[in-house]
Amino acid sequence: MNVLVAGGAGYIGGIVADQLLRAGHQVTVFDSLIKGYRAAAPVGAAFVQGTLHDRAALDAVLGRAAFDAVMHFAAFIEAGESMVDPGRYFYNNVAGSINLIEAASAAGVGRFVFSSTAAVYASNDRPLRETDTLAPVNAYGATKLMVEQILGWYGQIKGLRFAALRYFNACGATAARGEAHRPETHLIPLVLQVVLGQRGQISIYGADYPTPDGTCIRDYIHVVDLAQAHLLALDALAEHERIVCNLGNGAGYSVRQVIDAARQVTGHPIPAVEAPRRPGDAAILVADASKARALLGWQPAIPDLHDIIADAWAWHRSHPHGYQ
Ligand SMILES: NC(=O)c1ccc[n+]([C@@H]2O[C@H](COP(=O)([O-])OP(=O)(O)OC[C@H]3O[C@@H](n4cnc5c(N)ncnc54)[C@H](O)[C@@H]3O)[C@@H](O)[C@H]2O)c1
Repeated sequence: MNVLVAGGAGYIGGIVADQLLRAGHQVTVFDSLIKGYRAAAPVGAAFVQGTLHDRAALDAVLGRAAFDAVMHFAAFIEAGESMVDPGRYFYNNVAGSINLIEAASAAGVGRFVFSSTAAVYASNDRPLRETDTLAPVNAYGATKLMVEQILGWYGQIKGLRFAALRYFNACGATAARGEAHRPETHLIPLVLQVVLGQRGQISIYGADYPTPDGTCIRDYIHVVDLAQAHLLALDALAEHERIVCNLGNGAGYSVRQVIDAARQVTGHPIPAVEAPRRPGDAAILVADASKARALLGWQPAIPDLHDIIADAWAWHRSHPHGYQ
């Protein structure tokens, strides 16, 4: 298939673009590089630098050839920042997505795969199912839920076939590509920055959550397993008009457990300090991904947290300054 990957110079989009090429698809990456890196997009992909806010640029790239699918990773991703500056999130993630969906629909693209998130759900003590209440606790999650709903209307009115994949915490790396957000707010890369001597300690934001050790619990899913789900979703859209599913391992780890696992993997003491809660953090988000397993035939290949951290650590050790 011929696939446009919006946000393909970012962490997850770059790895999915690479896996698409390896599976024999043609790929064009569209990315403004506001958060991504040219080097994160695979060399075998065509690259167009542009923003989702530039409708003419989107029409031009989608007019270059007949595209079978659009995969949409381009967004701002910091839940905490979205609670300080919500307008930046609604403008980029919602208005930008409307432009891309409109352009894809106008160009007759039949399949659309969207990066959604666990942040569409409220905290829950048990693994979350797709039928659970949708109640984002931060503006970032609200932007993703809005785009899911917009896609639903384009499905109904324009016949756009779409998959909304609700990732839980993406992590891990391949040999060539890893997590390098600007700024970094994700736990595993932050912990590894301590190991690399780039920060003195790791902050635990909130030690008074209603969880066994008081820290937030998340489901960590390897980025390679996420990428695999995208390839499966692309095919599944031939049969299914709309797909909404969780992507996670179904196992929850607290912040303290992740830090302990990183200590074991790296052999570094990783000093940790408790800090106040960050606005917009849910206490517990763990996936029930049985729908993705049944519908897509998806089976995570690297579910073990230690293996995930080992892959992340291998990439950070070989790329101590990321792509810079
Ligand atoms: N990382 C996670 O754990 C996680 C979890 C759930 C969902 N997601 C979603 O997955 C997607 C990818 O996340 P990531 O971690 O790879 O983030 P990332 O910041 O590494 O990648 C996002 C990419 O989109 C580009 N971009 C942003 N706004 C743009 C715009 N207006 N026009 C063109 N390009 C633009 C950035 O330059 C960047 O390359 C995001 O939509 C995010 O919300 C990520």
